[in-house]
Amino acid sequence: MQPSDLKALAERAKAAADSAYAPYSKFHVGAALLAADGRIFCAPNIENASYGLGLCAETNAMMAAVTAGAKGFRALAVVGYRAEAPEEPVLATPCGRCRQILAEFCPPHLTVHIAPNSGGTPLTVTLADLLPHAFGPGALGNADT
Ligand code: THU
Repeated sequence: MQPSDLKALAERAKAAADSAYAPYSKFHVGAALLAADGRIFCAPNIENASYGLGLCAETNAMMAAVTAGAKGFRALAVVGYRAEAPEEPVLATPCGRCRQILAEFCPPHLTVHIAPNSGGTPLTVTLADLLPHAFGPGALGNADT
């Protein structure tokens, strides 16, 4: 992935973060997931009055992609910010649950680009960096998923 492609993907994640439903944490997250066929699946976090039921942006994007039959994921961009301080340079690294959900469908070499909402320096790593020695479908004999 070229840096300019990652920057464009982060812009999509940023737009998704703007549509977050996060009245409780007031922390907006957006994820943009690039599939092999060029489609980009974007989603924000969506919270719930029953707090524990809130869904993360990365999981929502991953589920949208799987629902649409997308495969061969190349890159994920994530942008997060506090609604009260959108200029603050926060790096919203994916939570543990999202890492495991991503590992079900994405290769270990998936590029994960975590960008601040404004200013600051992005962090670009792989999914394997975030979740080393992942437990995956292969362990259950489902290597094709
Ligand atoms: N959140 C995400 O959307 N992705 C993550 O990987 C970490 C956290 C959301 C969940 C909740 O709506 C808010 O950020 C604060 O935790």
